[in-house]
Amino acid sequence: MGIPALTHFLDLAALSDEQFRGLLRLAKRLKDERRTRGANQPILAGKSLALLFQKPSLRTRVSFEMGMQHLGGYAFYLSPAEVGLGSRESAADVARVLSGYADGIMARVFAHQDIVDLAEWGTVPVINGLSDFSHPCQALTDIFTAWEVLGDLEDRTIAYVGDGANNVATSLMMAAGKVGMNVRIISPVGYMPDPTVVENSGAEVSVTDDLEGVGGVDILYTDVWTSMGQEAERDERLAVFPPYQLNTGLLARTGNPQALVMHCLPAHRGEEITDEVADGPASILFPQAHNRLHAQKAILAHLLGGVPLE
Ligand code: CP
Ligand code: NVA
Repeated sequence: MGIPALTHFLDLAALSDEQFRGLLRLAKRLKDERRTRGANQPILAGKSLALLFQKPSLRTRVSFEMGMQHLGGYAFYLSPAEVGLGSRESAADVARVLSGYADGIMARVFAHQDIVDLAEWGTVPVINGLSDFSHPCQALTDIFTAWEVLGDLEDRTIAYVGDGANNVATSLMMAAGKVGMNVRIISPVGYMPDPTVVENSGAEVSVTDDLEGVGGVDILYTDVWTSMGQEAERDERLAVFPPYQLNTGLLARTGNPQALVMHCLPAHRGEEITDEVADGPASILFPQAHNRLHAQKAILAHLLGGVPLE
């Protein structure tokens, strides 16, 4: 019996440790294949992917578009203004229409329920390219990157400093749990993760507002203080988050000269992270961003190409 196949990629809570690890291994195989042979096998020839966006994107859009191209398939972009998901047309109708045109739907939405509805009503695989609740593609990439740099991740510790209630923190906890990493969420009071999310993450998670929590960690991770859709709260957030900036002082407080710095990007430089750290020797921000391509390809090869997880 192999690893059971996935039908969608909506949220990491739905994946077993083995399914998650299988995707990591597939991402590595596809990355190595392209590096050593110059190209991937065209396993998605004749297949297409709809890229449906309610919010802006650089990495998610381009990595999915290029990922499809590398695997011999085709992707088409649908802008927020064009489709009007939830206003011009319901997610249920959009899903049923797109299922007749494309072999998969990647969607970036505000309400997570829209992702769930697309999967429920469509007849093709649906991939969550970020919702207000979670960002599973990002977390797969993050763990893939950490694995490449550090090797076995069992009992390694990652500290996420910043908005512990956001989509990136939520998915990072779930992903870390699947490879046996310990997680420390260090957030101001009022911006800590929902206890249910922590409980369901399957990871060893500690939550604190105390920056001493960065002591001894292998990786420091941060994300913007104001996520897309929260712009009205920007001033309020800017008043609370500055002590949680990832700067050289905070990096030094890890006490680990080998500590790595990660950020999903885009960064608000000078807010949650300084230039000195983002561009410094501990930073793996750009390899991390580049790995979005390889992680997406694993998801696509499995969901649209039927490549089994091993
Ligand atoms: N990290 C990430 O998802 O980037 P984009 O918003 O540019 O896609
Ligand atoms: N938390 C950020 C992540 C962007 C990739 C947001 O939702 O805007």
